[in-house]
Amino acid sequence: MRILIIGDTHYGITSPGRLDKFYFEECTGHFDIIVHVGDWACSDQSEIEAGVRQIRNWFPKTPILTVRGNHDFWSQNPHNLHDLDKFHAKIFEHYKIHHLQNNPFILKDVLFVGFDGWYGNPDPPTNDDRWIHSDIPHNVYLADKAANECQKVLSETMNAKDKTIIATTHFPPLESDCFPGDTSMIANPKWLDFLTENSNYLLCGHTHCFQDVTINGCRIINNGSDYGTPRKFILTI
Ligand SMILES: [Fe+2]
Ligand SMILES: [Fe+2]
Repeated sequence: MRILIIGDTHYGITSPGRLDKFYFEECTGHFDIIVHVGDWACSDQSEIEAGVRQIRNWFPKTPILTVRGNHDFWSQNPHNLHDLDKFHAKIFEHYKIHHLQNNPFILKDVLFVGFDGWYGNPDPPTNDDRWIHSDIPHNVYLADKAANECQKVLSETMNAKDKTIIATTHFPPLESDCFPGDTSMIANPKWLDFLTENSNYLLCGHTHCFQDVTINGCRIINNGSDYGTPRKFILTI
């Protein structure tokens, strides 16, 4: 199975032309499935639909799985988190993008599970507060949601020990090689052991820093996409 792993495409700050060039020149050959690790958008909700539409045009028939990143909650206009959930579900349904949160996906002998995730740090040093306009305290709400979803993913994997398990979440639960020792912007590092002990692969994004390490027998991959520089990782299993 040939899997195209992309993410942090940040439509908007990464120009549509740059993304077209990336899909045309770098994402070539046959892929059985595509996994996007979140951060479709940059600073507005319109970018999510534009980014999703663009990739669907390039890969009209390939199953595309995704989780959402922090930028996917950013907007120029007031919004609340529940409305955004509905808005995203509508876009994903229209373009046949499979949102992994609450929805595992099976292809042959591979089980794909995932959850969006959030920071483990309750007060992360990020610009999110400026662009997430919800009245709900989003760091608390999204972190609690991430913890619940992480638990659900674990129970799904426990019933599928005969399958290869690929888990996906936007925020890695381990520090990146670019910022050693810095856990202020990642998922709860306490999740690292139980995620790696219960999956064969863990796909993450967010740090914009390439990583390919194996922990507890689980290979953790971050393709390292950055603003204006989309990158891919092709995983063959
Ligand atoms: Fe990102
Ligand atoms: Fe991110």
